[in-house]
Amino acid sequence: MKQGFFYITIFLISSFMNAQISANDVALQNKIEKLIEQLTIEEKVALCSGRDDWSTMPIERLDIPWIWLSDGPHGIRRAPATNKPGYGDQLPATCFPTASALAASWDIDLVYKVGQTLGEECQALDVNVLLGPGVNIKRSVLGGRNFEYFSEDPILSGEMGAAFINGVQSQGVGTSLKHFAANNVETMRMYNNSNVDTRTLNEIYLKPFEIAVKKAQPWTVMASYNRVQGEYGTQNSYLLTEKLKNEWGFKGIVISDWFAIVDRVKAMKAGMHIEMPKVSAVNNAIVVDAIKNGILDIAVVDGLVKEILTIVFKAKSLEKEGIQLNIEKDHAFARKVAAEVATLLKNDNEVLPITKEKYKKVAIIGEFAVNPRYQGNGSSQVKPTQLDKALDIIKNEYGKDIKITYAQGYNLADDNDISLIEEAKKIAANADVALIFSGLPLQYESEGIDRTHINMPASHNKLINEISTVQKNTVVVLTNGSAVTMPWLKNVSGVLETWLGGQAGAGGITDVLFGKVNPSGKLAETFPMRLEDTPAFFNFPGEQGDVLYGERFFVGYRYYDERKIEPLFPFGYGLSYTNFEYSNLKVSSKNTTDKEGLTVSLTVKNIGKVKGKEVVQLYVSDQESTLQRPEKELKKFVKIELNPGEEKTVSFKLESNDFSYFDSKRNRWIAESGDYVISVGASSRDIRVSEKINLQSTQLVPLAFDEYTFFLEYWNNKQTRKILLEYMPNWIRGIVTEGDEAEIREYQGFMVEHPLIKYPYITSGEITHEQVLEIVEKCKNLTYTP
Ligand code: BGC
Repeated sequence: MKQGFFYITIFLISSFMNAQISANDVALQNKIEKLIEQLTIEEKVALCSGRDDWSTMPIERLDIPWIWLSDGPHGIRRAPATNKPGYGDQLPATCFPTASALAASWDIDLVYKVGQTLGEECQALDVNVLLGPGVNIKRSVLGGRNFEYFSEDPILSGEMGAAFINGVQSQGVGTSLKHFAANNVETMRMYNNSNVDTRTLNEIYLKPFEIAVKKAQPWTVMASYNRVQGEYGTQNSYLLTEKLKNEWGFKGIVISDWFAIVDRVKAMKAGMHIEMPKVSAVNNAIVVDAIKNGILDIAVVDGLVKEILTIVFKAKSLEKEGIQLNIEKDHAFARKVAAEVATLLKNDNEVLPITKEKYKKVAIIGEFAVNPRYQGNGSSQVKPTQLDKALDIIKNEYGKDIKITYAQGYNLADDNDISLIEEAKKIAANADVALIFSGLPLQYESEGIDRTHINMPASHNKLINEISTVQKNTVVVLTNGSAVTMPWLKNVSGVLETWLGGQAGAGGITDVLFGKVNPSGKLAETFPMRLEDTPAFFNFPGEQGDVLYGERFFVGYRYYDERKIEPLFPFGYGLSYTNFEYSNLKVSSKNTTDKEGLTVSLTVKNIGKVKGKEVVQLYVSDQESTLQRPEKELKKFVKIELNPGEEKTVSFKLESNDFSYFDSKRNRWIAESGDYVISVGASSRDIRVSEKINLQSTQLVPLAFDEYTFFLEYWNNKQTRKILLEYMPNWIRGIVTEGDEAEIREYQGFMVEHPLIKYPYITSGEITHEQVLEIVEKCKNLTYTP
């Protein structure tokens, strides 16, 4: 009885709140409609441009406020004022691990919480929209901005992006999902054309945006600098209208990347709302003229203004007064995050974790231990509230029980300086274990510049090799935002990839090295043996303004799988101080349909001695497909925590889109009938359990036959064969229906492999061009089940 009352009360409260929200919405929309009536053309156009570097345009006459947009993404780069660039003089804020690190956690809840904290900090710093996250795919290991992106995989990138957005926006602060779209190269980024086929674009490059928009509705999307299929991101109606708005149901506004506008009138027609930052009055005058001359319909502008004002008023209504940065709390959380993302790549003979029982003397080598590298170069640079150093933290927290020595090892100011190696060797030889902090210096990874190689500085590589000759317990602690080669790998006992761990990275690394936290990071990108093995090797960074996506959807592990290339470390890989056993894979049915989908469950058990977290990854492989498909594709993942001996059942629900490919001819996703293998494992190359199922499609899709479809295809389809026979002259009909086998084969071998449009010529006019068009017309609305 009591419980019933409780539910009724909740129901009434939530109905009341929903009614309130929609009443508020209606009131807001009415207010906006009225404002639109009062705004002049010039004011409307002004609203579609920034006021200055970081704010939108206010119209004081009508009490239309402005809002503050700020970089982003892994911390707030708040300039001292909206009209100041904010490089070097930005306000301090917590610097979290960058996106490549966050993705290595594969932890949706954690990334949500990072977003939540960033949202709180935005409120404290008066920021209404945080410019991030970036969900572009890491197409090449050379991408200069890889540190700012999540993954080579669209599902992982999209899920991370959605979690981040939901976290930030839970605090009444908006986000800007960027850089839309196919912005995968920094070289000539203001002009380069991403020459990518439509199927690949949809399956790989748009997918993370689609997931993030559908699951999180970012307040804004940032249109990218580059061109996609020949048209600039800011004026690409396929991207901004057809995909983003019509297909995915985006409700927010599109802003341009900074100075990304080329033709603002065209951009506005394509669905771009705000040009950022303010460029010049000339740009507004061009748009006003276009409206007055009937080139740009005022209704289009009104539509954009309406959506801009919806976001502006929403942002203002959600501002919170009196919020302060909680520096200590956020720093402590940033340390926790840094520990969660650390990825253990090698741990021979359990060289890690370090305990006082195992080691009495620890040598810390490498300038990064005192001068940490913790974020990337470019617009995402945060001024941290404080910055931890590994040497200090290790000494403070473990120096009482363990003797700690330090040597610089290399010189960050000079990559080729190897004069510091000898001293480092001495302390390494005198210790029980050597920790070498090394990786990529700041200038190696930057927005605006791609890498030309994936090597670490020569001095770092030499240092590691030399230390390994005097110390068998050598552990390399890597700091880098993207993949590197490891020519010394076989000589060292341990490798801990710590990414760009943010201002508290040193603490997080210490927690993992000393066993307070069991590492659970997994690679969100493949580490190749060498640059020559990478998918975009021949087509990066493009030439003469064109980047050919020649590897198509064989990006990351999809490529290594297909080419049977052994990577240095595969996608999804990462070790733990414990081990997990996978068993008992069950599928809800071995014969299913795309409508029903599939539930997959399995048991994962911690069979080691310490508590740990495991990322369980589910891949789907299409066994027989009309179109080429990757060997397998990640579709689901979950991170779980298990005590020693504990086991948990993990289950996943697969739906039609988890089996689908994008058919660009038919402009739709197709889940084809046939066999699929569902495999679950601890990495893309460590599949533990799998099961084959059969899927029957219930889709009805257009045949999409036209005058260029081959005779053979018309012939092989029962529906179109009937129509074809009505038109074929007797001699062809005779051959294909009655002719002897040899004749048919001969005929089929040659004649049928022509598109229908050639039949007037082949039959010397016995079939006319008009008849061909009639056949096409009759077949136009036919459908089939794939
Ligand atoms: C970058 C964006 C950034 C913007 C504002 C651009 O150059 O591509 O990611 O948000 O500048 O700083």
